[in-house]
Amino acid sequence: MSSKNPPAVSSRIGTVAMRWHGDRLELLDQRRLPIVEHWVSVDTASEVAASIRDMVVRGAPAIGISAAYGVVLAVQRASGPQWREAVRADMQVLAESRPTAVNLFWALQQMEAVLAECPTRQEAATRLAHTAIGLHDDDLAANLAMAEHALAVMDEREPFSVLTHCNTGALATGGYGTALGVIRRLHAAGRLQRVFVDETRPWMQGSRLTAWELSRDGIPVTLNADGAAAWILARGEVRWVVVGADRITANGDVANKIGTYSLAVLARYHRVRFMVVAPSSTIDMTLASGADIPIEQREGTEVRQMGEVVLAPEHVDVYNPVFDVTPAELIDVLVTERGVVHRPDAAAMQALFGARS
Ligand code: MRU
Repeated sequence: MSSKNPPAVSSRIGTVAMRWHGDRLELLDQRRLPIVEHWVSVDTASEVAASIRDMVVRGAPAIGISAAYGVVLAVQRASGPQWREAVRADMQVLAESRPTAVNLFWALQQMEAVLAECPTRQEAATRLAHTAIGLHDDDLAANLAMAEHALAVMDEREPFSVLTHCNTGALATGGYGTALGVIRRLHAAGRLQRVFVDETRPWMQGSRLTAWELSRDGIPVTLNADGAAAWILARGEVRWVVVGADRITANGDVANKIGTYSLAVLARYHRVRFMVVAPSSTIDMTLASGADIPIEQREGTEVRQMGEVVLAPEHVDVYNPVFDVTPAELIDVLVTERGVVHRPDAAAMQALFGARS
C-alpha cells in the first residue's frame, strides 16, 4: 500500500540521512561515506533493523527516527486478523537492533502508544505514519532550539575553537545535529574559529562523517587522531569540548561514543568546559546511573581491520566497547531543547525532566 505523506520539515535543511517516501524509507549509507553518496531503499521493518545493526544509519536520534518509520512499514506490510501481533513482532526485532541509544526504545514506545489506540490496521497505518514524521520533525526542531540555548551559554567575546567527538550532525539526527548543530550555529553567528574533530576510532565517525559534513558546509575543520586531543587541550587551542549523547540517566551520567569519557577527564584537567547536547528523547529517567546502561560491544574486526586493510594479527583478542559513560560530575553543561542544566546531578535532572519512573 502507499499513503503519500506531506514532505517533512527535514527535507528543507540541506544534508539529511533519511528520506521517507510514504511506503519506503531511503537511507544514506553511512558505511560508504565520504567516498560514495549511496542511498539504500528499505521496504520492511526487518530491513530497517538490519540497517541500524549494520550502521547504514547510526547516531542516537537517527536510529530512533528510522525505527519509527520501520514500524510504519510493519503496519503497511501486516495483513489478516493477526496484523497487530505481526507489527509487535517487528517492533521487537527493531528493539533488538542496537542496545545503548535509548532514543530507539523511546521512539518505539511512542509508536506503541499510538498503535494501542487504533482499532483498525488502516487507522494504525495513517496515524503511525503521522507520528513517525512528527518525531522526525520534532527532532529537527529540538536541534535548532538546543543550538540557541548553547549559544547563550557560551559567553566568550571573541571567536573561539571547539573540539568534538564522533558524529552528531545531520547524519546522526533528524537534521542539523546536536553538538554539531551547536557548532553550525556558532559558525553562522560568526563566533567559531575552528572545529577540531577526533577521528573516533574504531569506526571513524569523526573523519568519515563529521569532517565530511563540516567540509561540505564550509566550516573550518581540523581532523586529529584521538590521541592528539590531550595535546590540543594542553596547548589551549579550544575553549569548549562539545559532544552528543546516546543515553543520559537520572543522575546526569552520559553514555556516548567510546572516547568521550577520556575527553571529559582531559577537559576537567585542562580547565576546558565540557558540554553535552542531546534532545529529551535521549534522557532515560528510569535508570539511576550510568552503571545501569547496557554498553554495546561490537565485533573485534572493527578494531583489527580498517575495511579490508588488516591492522593487527588475525586472531588477536580485541575489547571493543563502542560507548563509555562520562560521570555527571565531569559535565559542565547539559543542553536539551527543554533547557540547560549546569553541573547536572539527580536534583537538577529531576527538576527539568520529572521524577524517575
Ligand atoms: O555508534 P554510533 O555511530 O551510533 O554512535 C553515535 C554517537 O555516539 C553519537 O555521539 C551520539 O549518538 C549522539 S548523535 C546526535
